[in-house]
Amino acid sequence: MSFFCNGPVALVAQHDEHNGQGWRVIQFQEVTKTFGSRTAVNKVSFNIEKPQMVGIIGRSGAGKSTLLRMINRLTPASAGQILFDGRDILSLKGGMMRRWQRDCAMVFQQFNLVPRLDVVTNVMLGRLNGHGTLKSLFNIFSQEDVNSALGALDRLGIAQEATKRAEELSGGQQQRVAIARALMQDPHMILADEPIASLDPMNAKIVMDALREIHERDNKIVICNLHTLDTARTYCDRVIGMRDGFLVFDGAPEALTTAVAREIYGADESFNEAATSTAIDAGQPGSRESAGAMTPAAAAV
Ligand SMILES: Nc1ncnc2c1ncn2[C@@H]1O[C@H](COP(=O)(O)OP(=O)(O)OP(=O)(O)O)[C@@H](O)[C@H]1O
Ligand SMILES: [Mg+2]
Repeated sequence: MSFFCNGPVALVAQHDEHNGQGWRVIQFQEVTKTFGSRTAVNKVSFNIEKPQMVGIIGRSGAGKSTLLRMINRLTPASAGQILFDGRDILSLKGGMMRRWQRDCAMVFQQFNLVPRLDVVTNVMLGRLNGHGTLKSLFNIFSQEDVNSALGALDRLGIAQEATKRAEELSGGQQQRVAIARALMQDPHMILADEPIASLDPMNAKIVMDALREIHERDNKIVICNLHTLDTARTYCDRVIGMRDGFLVFDGAPEALTTAVAREIYGADESFNEAATSTAIDAGQPGSRESAGAMTPAAAAV
């Protein structure tokens, strides 16, 4: 059976908003983004029907960031639908849109912290969407906010850095602060765009372990754009491959062989995935679901 498709996968009819176990389903239906004449994301369709850790891979320019940014409305989609719990999140406006953006917290490659602010305040900024405008303007946080922020930092193993300025921390520590900030939003899902691309292997492992732990302990969807195949294989329950804006692979990490990766990356025989490896010696981050639970993308269109 071919795992590849040249265009959008066939849609699975989804009448039940929940998957029968109380999880809210997210459905991507022919989601498309064009920039002028360039189609960055081309009719991408897939469903996430239970809390999964999903890795998105593909060469530079494949459309990974654009797809992620459309989910939380940082980039407006040109066509298609994204349904969460049966609701089209691409048509949300005003307060409803901000609420949605709080529900899908973003983690960025460059952390996006406020460098001169102390760590605990950076984390509390994750609460701003939940506050009124006036409170947000004056950065008024309650003792409960402070306690929650310290709790999130403690969970990420960096509570001792709470009073330092963000710029004083190492890259790995800053990314953990960014993840703590995401946790403060109490989101349904975490969207991480190349969260370890600026980190050394040891810090990359700490950050990926943290994302995996949040996925497993809190049952949250984590969607993670990744450059390195070994990271996707080690941490993700499901891998989506993008090429030239199309979803070309959707399957279990076990199915991500070198030959498959070569197809996704559009590389020839000289493709050497070890060259892109972060060489994370990650061990086993936790039990993943079996390969059998995954369904490869539907046949080519
Ligand atoms: N704001 C923009 N304006 C014009 N074109 C854009 C814009 N953002 C992205 N693109 C184009 O859309 C395509 C997909 O870009 P995107 O950033 O989503 O790729 P990516 O897979 O995340 O790449 P990378 O691995 O380098 O981060 C590229 O051709 C890119 O040049
Ligand atoms: Mg990108």
